[in-house]
Amino acid sequence: MTSLLKQPVVDAINGQVVEEFTASLQYTAIALYFDSETLPQLSGFFHLQAQEEHMHAMKLLNYITEAGGQPIVPATKPVKNHFESVEEAVALALNQELKVTEQINSLVSVAVRENDYLTQQFLQWFVTEQLEEVSSMSDLLNIVRRAGKDLFRIEDWLVQNPHEAAAGGAA
Ligand SMILES: [Fe+2]
Ligand SMILES: [Fe+2]
Repeated sequence: MTSLLKQPVVDAINGQVVEEFTASLQYTAIALYFDSETLPQLSGFFHLQAQEEHMHAMKLLNYITEAGGQPIVPATKPVKNHFESVEEAVALALNQELKVTEQINSLVSVAVRENDYLTQQFLQWFVTEQLEEVSSMSDLLNIVRRAGKDLFRIEDWLVQNPHEAAAGGAA
């Protein structure tokens, strides 16, 4: 079919798909680390994040398909599987969200440069989503740091703040 998208835009979106699938697998690795430490709330939180990142990748791929471009399901980047502490894993997650926010902004820049208003509009969902993602991960890191060695306090906080656990969810 005729494509509504210029190739630089398709390439840039396919590039973001790599990041979203990688983020999904990274969150799965973090969730499994928390499983191994018997921290079910933290594990559940990250399994949910992993599902969301998979959904982000699919949303991008479906958009390319719908607009008549060629979607590419990629190999992902390496994933970190060994963590020394809860704080290390959650800090890595926050850094990942900050990095993805910059990547989404760069993606919007490509759409602006190509005068692609359709893609600019499509990407606004991701722009807003990143606010929620960075905000919820940053809250979690604050709680982790405040809890220190008392990991039950983090688990309790997640039980008492299910909206935090679901942040960025079904919306
Ligand atoms: Fe994402
Ligand atoms: Fe995310």
